[in-house]
Amino acid sequence: MNAYFSELGGMVYERWKKVDFAPEAFPDIATAALDERPPADRINLPELVREFLLEDAQPAQSTSGFGQPELIVYDIPRFYIQVLFWMDGTTDIHQHGFSGAFHVLEGSSLHSLFEFEDSQSITSHFRIGNLSLKATHLLEAGDTRPIVSGPHCIHSLFHLDTPSVSVVIRTHSDPACGPQFTYLPPHLAVDPLQNDGLTLRRKQLLDLLEQTGDPEYPDIVIAMIRELDFERGFFILQNCIGHLQNLGLWDEAWETFARKHGPLAEALPPTFEEIIRRDRIAGMRGMIGDPDHRFFLALMLNVENRKPFLEMVGQRYGGAPVDKILQWAEELMHITEGGTWLIDAEFPDELGIDQNDQPSIFMDALRYFLNHTNLPANISSSDLEVLRNTFACSSWNALIASDSPSSSASGIA
Ligand SMILES: [Fe+2]
Repeated sequence: MNAYFSELGGMVYERWKKVDFAPEAFPDIATAALDERPPADRINLPELVREFLLEDAQPAQSTSGFGQPELIVYDIPRFYIQVLFWMDGTTDIHQHGFSGAFHVLEGSSLHSLFEFEDSQSITSHFRIGNLSLKATHLLEAGDTRPIVSGPHCIHSLFHLDTPSVSVVIRTHSDPACGPQFTYLPPHLAVDPLQNDGLTLRRKQLLDLLEQTGDPEYPDIVIAMIRELDFERGFFILQNCIGHLQNLGLWDEAWETFARKHGPLAEALPPTFEEIIRRDRIAGMRGMIGDPDHRFFLALMLNVENRKPFLEMVGQRYGGAPVDKILQWAEELMHITEGGTWLIDAEFPDELGIDQNDQPSIFMDALRYFLNHTNLPANISSSDLEVLRNTFACSSWNALIASDSPSSSASGIA
């Protein structure tokens, strides 16, 4: 067992015992301990790894799939300490069923905090409401943040370096705080631990029908949507949206759901759009190792407005943030037989522009939208408006939206 973590755990235990293990005191105690004796200053990671691999006297390990991997380095009945490695992990937006604190041991992460308001329970495991981003900031090695169980601490982490390593001091569980909801912005909270085996098996069976090209698939899905309650209907739609869109049957499936559930259903279309956008960006992140590009994608995924976006680029790299963003855009441009892509914006076919010319026109338009100067002479104002809409319907919207003083549409009319 690692001597540093034994000492750290012992210190936390003694302090918590003095306040009779009051649950509300634990986040502050854990945070203070990690700040006073920061693992980032005291742990030699290669030595810790070697010790864990060669020394049998370790705390009992969990079989959880959390972390890549998770090492438990201290464990007593009241709480435990884990070291979490992350290779490409992006956490979902989540709240916690436990409390404590986390500390960045190595690497860096983009940390976002959220609030969920106007919450309405559909079932005990499924809520509708309005999720809003409250703050995003960069966490570097040595930073510590408290974890408070329940809905007052909703967050996500996007790990920027490979690996990123964090230390968590945490209770085993805080049973009074309810489900450990995962949030699907902008409107849903779902319980990832709900044990609905029947829905899981049904989704797997639908996947089988999809893979085998079963002609009954659309009729069965629509019959299910017609029959199922709101919660389970959502999960079936979420599972099937990609294939239904490919089959050209999404509208029919969606209208079936919307007719059945009325105004309550209005929360779902923006949520589906955001699920697809996030999956696409997270999928790209999984294929990209360059830390600068990962940082850029993390901002694209998590930052909703131009000002904080540019501030965070400037904070990390100095210089002119827009120039750095344009450099990344060019480096990440993706050209396939089907089209030209800047992250999740596809060059619009409707402009009828030869694919060889698309990359330079795409970049010229983006440069114009980001800098608000130098109207590109080679692009007509009507084409520019189409390109603006293309960017506005993608993750670029955070950077070209109207929170900047000179980005009004009149500039290109
Ligand atoms: Fe968390």
